[in-house]
Amino acid sequence: MVNIFTLTLTLVNYCVIVADTHDFYQLTPAKIGCEVHGIDIGLPVSEKVIAQIKKDVTEHRILVFRNQHNIPPERHVEIGRWFGELESSMFYKHPKSPSPEIFRISNVKSEGSINRGRFGWHIDGSHFMKPVSHTLYQIVHVPNEGDTVYNPLNEIVQGLSTERLDRWERLWVRSNPPPQVIHPLIYSHPDTGKKVICIHLGTTASFIWDRGTNNERETGFDETKELLAEIKHEFTKNQTLQYSHKWEVGDYIITDNLSVAHESAPSSQYSIEQVGLRVLHRVTVAGTNMPTKNYDLPILKPKDEL
Ligand SMILES: [Fe+2]
Repeated sequence: MVNIFTLTLTLVNYCVIVADTHDFYQLTPAKIGCEVHGIDIGLPVSEKVIAQIKKDVTEHRILVFRNQHNIPPERHVEIGRWFGELESSMFYKHPKSPSPEIFRISNVKSEGSINRGRFGWHIDGSHFMKPVSHTLYQIVHVPNEGDTVYNPLNEIVQGLSTERLDRWERLWVRSNPPPQVIHPLIYSHPDTGKKVICIHLGTTASFIWDRGTNNERETGFDETKELLAEIKHEFTKNQTLQYSHKWEVGDYIITDNLSVAHESAPSSQYSIEQVGLRVLHRVTVAGTNMPTKNYDLPILKPKDEL
């Protein structure tokens, strides 16, 4: 007979929570991912707890830890290192940043880097050969508005028409800034194998059709613009998929950066008089995988086979 406590308790979208096999913390389903209660990650935690958190980030994609009031900057950096080497070369080191590893984001120039996350849906570090694997956010000053909005990439792929999916599978993305790294638009998540998307809608230089075949062709300005509009449409056509996180005091978020795109709401840049001061500290973890399709594309053949 099945033990009732081992039965699956809750199913919301992607977030399947099986009755706890541990008492480290409790998970509550959110729109994407889960809220985490009953743990203070600012305090020392065991290797087993760290392993469980890493597993849950991969499984649920976003973990929102509430009521975290014991995370000084050095602890934020330390938590980031649970996931790997940190990546801090891509951001401006604001004078008020408490650490070279922490990107300080704000709606006020004197307090942090402004307009961040406002240039379109993206994953962090899409312009690296190995895009950022995880992003960790700590709200430092909470504004009245200024959500961070997340978009689940596998669901976006699943929502494509067959015709559009076939087209997107043929696309590679050339990113700015130089050296203009090229990645497949759709690829396999390195940990889950699920199809996800590598893009920054604000920094894409061009697309390449049918890379590695005799049909290889790079898009010009107009076609690039059209494709970016098409991708944006797919990212926004079903807003019920999105999770808009309204920041509260003590919030600490860890995301699997490769599984969810994100952008900041327009109100994240409203003035201090309108919404109050917004300060967010972000730590990013260097990726360890080049985006790769771990599946065959029957419509494409390698150049040397044509
Ligand atoms: Fe970002």
